[in-house]
Amino acid sequence: MSSLTNKQILLGVTGGIAAYKSAELVRRLRERGASVRVVMTAAAREFMTPLTFQALSGHPVHTDLLDPAAEAAMGHIELARWADLVLIAPASANFIARLAEGRGDDLLSTLCLATRAPLALAPAMNQGMWDNAATRENLDRLRQRQILLLGPGEGSQACGETGPGRMLEPAALAEAAAAQFETGALAGRRVVITAGPTREAIDPVRYLSNHSSGKMGYALARAAMEAGASVTLISGPTALPAPERVNLIRVTSAEEMYRECLEHAPRCDLFIGAAAVADYRPRAYQSQKIKKGSDEQLTLELVKNPDIIAAVAGLDARPFTVGFAAESEQLEDYARRKLIQKNLNAIIANDISREGLGFNSDDNAVILIDARSAIPLGPQSKQQLARELIARLARSLHEPA
Ligand code: PMT
Repeated sequence: MSSLTNKQILLGVTGGIAAYKSAELVRRLRERGASVRVVMTAAAREFMTPLTFQALSGHPVHTDLLDPAAEAAMGHIELARWADLVLIAPASANFIARLAEGRGDDLLSTLCLATRAPLALAPAMNQGMWDNAATRENLDRLRQRQILLLGPGEGSQACGETGPGRMLEPAALAEAAAAQFETGALAGRRVVITAGPTREAIDPVRYLSNHSSGKMGYALARAAMEAGASVTLISGPTALPAPERVNLIRVTSAEEMYRECLEHAPRCDLFIGAAAVADYRPRAYQSQKIKKGSDEQLTLELVKNPDIIAAVAGLDARPFTVGFAAESEQLEDYARRKLIQKNLNAIIANDISREGLGFNSDDNAVILIDARSAIPLGPQSKQQLARELIARLARSLHEPA
């Protein structure tokens, strides 16, 4: 049984008799490790109560777009960002039509417009409605937008007719949801990823550091784990929880990160340096707190830290080595220079001049650069971006050099 561990699934329930099966679907998704939040349309609430879904999901159900209390708890944009997958089950003919038109006239349709997560629909309707030319056209439009259709199945229907239009069974839908994440592209591979900032101690109370939150590196570690790799994450200090099924090694300084990387990198297939490593550290650590003196200036002497990724790329049995380049200007140009100077296989150029992207944000936009190409990716959530990067790097691993 494939896993949904750590996955965040937003389940949209629209109006149809199959809504009763969605209650079972919540249980199936949670059994596989997913965290589920439910959004119900007004029509869905004619068939099932929000309380049922609240009890099964363990979270309040979201119903209204313009409800100040709900927006204060988890607003619609936050919900749209939260989701790794938006699954609409059942998806009624009416909701499919509204989605095809790009309407945003209730909470669920607005979420579908706002989210960057993949969207999957499990249609459920009378067989005549399913065969109707209008529904067919709407579905064609949705397929062109890469929206995934799960089913429908065929058989006897609640209305007494027989034919296509039955919602797939909850177990099949949960399996299909899991299949969206299980690529297996890195099955059997060892991956080492660095993440977060480093802290370079000045004295017992002070250090030099930067604004890296670790979100990008942790998202890559989760994506590599989902793709079947055995993952070691070497992380500077962050406030993030340890990702499940990942070997997390916590370090503080660049020198500690260097030692751990050189310990683990020789046995890995893919090394990704997402950490924002301090280039310099104080020449001498002061074991007592530095006191404020009468001088107006204090000079701190710094020495260069080892370049971790360049050392990994210089190993005799080097892994496929991928760096990040956080740049505020001349993004591609500066990133290419680092690709060459550090002898990397690829570099992920991160434009940190854009509001809401890069350091300490939930979203990111990058250019994946190697000797042959430069592919812009995003803006999208760091988790979605990480999945796309891992899928592309896994393909590069299989290609001849
Ligand atoms: O952590 P987040 O808040 O999610 O933000 C993500 C990020 C912006 C930190 C990340 O995406 C990013 O861009 N990381 C690299 C940041 C950086 O400082 O890059 P750099 O240009 O200084 O270094 C280039 C490459 O060399 C990086 O792969 C870096 O890990 C590596 N390096 C740098 C210095 C050093 N001494 N050793 C290294 O290995």
